[in-house]
Amino acid sequence: MAETNKTATLLLDNKKIELPIYAPTAGPEVIDIRKLYAQGDVFTYDPGFTSTASCDSTITYIDGDKGELLYRGYPIEQLADQSHFLEVCYLLLYGELPDATQIEEFETRVTRHTMVHEQMHNFFRGFRRDAHPMATMVGVVGAMSAFYHDSTDISDPWQREVAAIRMIAKMPTIAAMAYKYSIGQPFVYPRNDLDYASNFLNMCFSVPAEPYKIEPALAKAMDRIFMLHADHEQNASTSTVRLAGSSGANPFACIAAGIACLWGPAHGGANQACLEMLREIGTVDRIPEFIARAKDKNDPFRLMGFGHRVYKNFDPRAKVMKESADEVLELLGIHDNETLKVAKELEKIALEDEYFVSKKLYPNVDFYSGIILEAMGFPTSMFTPIFALSRTVGWISQWKEMIADQHQKIGRPRQLYVGAPRRDYVDVAKR
Ligand code: CMC
Repeated sequence: MAETNKTATLLLDNKKIELPIYAPTAGPEVIDIRKLYAQGDVFTYDPGFTSTASCDSTITYIDGDKGELLYRGYPIEQLADQSHFLEVCYLLLYGELPDATQIEEFETRVTRHTMVHEQMHNFFRGFRRDAHPMATMVGVVGAMSAFYHDSTDISDPWQREVAAIRMIAKMPTIAAMAYKYSIGQPFVYPRNDLDYASNFLNMCFSVPAEPYKIEPALAKAMDRIFMLHADHEQNASTSTVRLAGSSGANPFACIAAGIACLWGPAHGGANQACLEMLREIGTVDRIPEFIARAKDKNDPFRLMGFGHRVYKNFDPRAKVMKESADEVLELLGIHDNETLKVAKELEKIALEDEYFVSKKLYPNVDFYSGIILEAMGFPTSMFTPIFALSRTVGWISQWKEMIADQHQKIGRPRQLYVGAPRRDYVDVAKR
């Protein structure tokens, strides 16, 4: 943390409190309020953490006004164009791009961990077939701590490392198994001769009855989707992982907590909700009706895939995703996709509408991702599990950063209590 020679002065009932100010590498300066309670006997109030930095981090940076996203300093557009997912995983985990030997070793390590404990198959079979794959994933990932005891000691850096590799390697297997189970097909074992994305497609779409041909261009598009979702600094699910981890909980339990948080429609669940919304709109002539609903304060409806806490400009991931949607549909020979037409027209109308312009609401990563995933053959219920598998590396990198931080403390927010003051118990007969 770079200290500045600046301080912020808070005047509290004529008592002056000096608060240190820190300079970030990029972004707004930060006022350190850690001693505020001790010195001033007050708390700060910030529900939703709209103005509060919960940690310092070196992993990801977002400039919401510019619409910029950097992983370890590298722009997402460059990575999406020139890198690949496992290289991005290495970058997020270790801070630097790997050289040729490092990436080869890393890929080998991840590949050697792709299978899950055979007994986990029984665990899957305990779920109802119609369970949402996210429900299955929350349960199965939490249960990994029961299968991999030798990587749950968080005080051992080596065990933390093994847990990270296991999670990155096994998450595609778990997501694919959740899918196969939900459609009544046999589980497909991972294939270590395939790259990460191709292996995932194979585990989802191949069946024992006939060979499955992996289209390299689709595998590339899948890989790009993984990269675009890999990390996003202190979002709700990442903060959940950090908070769970701050108590010393094991990494598998922490990632399961992150998956649970991601599921909500305001977060990762928006990709499923967005495609369902686009389908419900159905044709471009119905767009004005939905725009009007989104603007109506008395209607809870929101345009899914629109708006973001941090981006007050185009989400850079949405731009890449839109290009990818065009490429994938072209590749699959889908020339008249009504959902894509609705999406593009909806985006155009919303971007010109005073309501969306004044509130700086732009398409986010979830606006176009569903169109690509649907074209690839995934049902909507698999959209959020794919987000979860992509985000696992971000969660685990942030968790590792937190555990290694010497100043780390259990996360314990304070509150503004507005309930009843102290009162005496009244016997039921007298109430
Ligand atoms: N449609 C209509 N109005 C909206 C929308 C939307 N999608 N998003 C925000 N607004 C309005 C909101 O009603 C509020 O209006 P007012 O100031 O008049 O009360 C204003 O814009 C600010 O919204 P907010 O809810 O205070 O902003 P937030 O930062 O708390 O919420 C958000 C951010 C992403 C939860 C929200 O924009 C939203 O619900 N979007 C739809 C869900 C979605 O696409 N989520 C995916 C986010 S990106 C992927 C991820 O991170 O998981």
